[in-house]
Amino acid sequence: MQTVTLIPGDGIGPEITEAVVNILKAAKAQIDWDIQSAGADVIEKEGTPLPARVIESIKKNKVALKAPVTTPIGKGFRSVNVQLRKALDLYANLRPCKNIDGVKTRFNNVDLVIVRENTEDLYAGIERQIDEDTAESIKIITRKASLRIAEFAFNYALKNERQTVHAVSKANICKMTDGLFLNCVREIAQKYPQIEYKEILVDNLCMQLVQNPNNFDVLVLPNLYGDIVSDLCAGLIGGLGIAQGANIGAETAVFEPVHGSAPDIKGQNKANPTALLLSAIEMLKYIRQNEIADNIQKSLYKTIKEAKVLTYDLNGNATTTEFANEIIKNLI
Ligand code: NAI
Repeated sequence: MQTVTLIPGDGIGPEITEAVVNILKAAKAQIDWDIQSAGADVIEKEGTPLPARVIESIKKNKVALKAPVTTPIGKGFRSVNVQLRKALDLYANLRPCKNIDGVKTRFNNVDLVIVRENTEDLYAGIERQIDEDTAESIKIITRKASLRIAEFAFNYALKNERQTVHAVSKANICKMTDGLFLNCVREIAQKYPQIEYKEILVDNLCMQLVQNPNNFDVLVLPNLYGDIVSDLCAGLIGGLGIAQGANIGAETAVFEPVHGSAPDIKGQNKANPTALLLSAIEMLKYIRQNEIADNIQKSLYKTIKEAKVLTYDLNGNATTTEFANEIIKNLI
């Protein structure tokens, strides 16, 4: 048995978490869940959306599965997600983006991986109101964080038999910050002659991704570009409902979907749990429960390919619960 921290989050979080926990239980995953509430629902009781007990639990267990948590726009608390990534130094945000058989999209054979720096850039949260009509935000890029994310990207490429790493920046405009990022990636690229190294500006990348996504393999990006390009890539493979992710540090890993708490469909039992389930499958592989992970993955792909029981975002009309039950039925 492995103890894993479980953060059900808020919005659609608890609904998709219930579905995923039921699927993992049916597949006989050897997990003891250490359930830790966080987000909007705990603010009133505990005075913060991210109580210290959540961080302590992840530090102790070293691995977590996390559903989305709401961040109020323009006011209130700092994002729970950003705080968590910083507190645990989860410096790499890994977001594989691959077509799933049966999900109709504009392109076939999209198979790329986003490696997003997770601790700095405009996410440092250093902002101030200069006067009523002017505000500023400081973009921090450091050599340390850029070198380690580059190392992570090349190492990932090597271990996963990937061919090419693209460094993504806007170094023509942000000459110092993105320039530093780019120089660091170049430095690391020299240590990996087996991997082809290329550079692209983020605006050009966006245009090329929506025309020829098959031209890309591993992308390494500073935090903000990584965030935006991740959602674009989720769109390429069929939407946020199926886009998985993981935040990885030297000692700990938090697996979570790319999508947010989707307040527009909260409480309706219609959200697609696939993105959280794919994140959970990666988590199972991380804790070396590979057979169970494979069984769930096969069942999920079968369920989607058969297209009998699908959620609304995949053009079906099943509820979250019905979709999860179909996956359970298809387990071996
Ligand atoms: P969102 O990702 O929650 O939703 C965008 C659109 O995708 C919505 O129309 C939503 O209904 C749909 N969608 C998202 N997940 C889906 C699913 N599993 N199945 C079917 N449809 C799905 O993005 P939004 O609305 O910009 O953000 C809402 C909140 O989530 C914000 O407070 C934001 O800060 C937070 N957020 C949290 C994240 C996290 O916890 N890691 C990541 C991104 C956003």
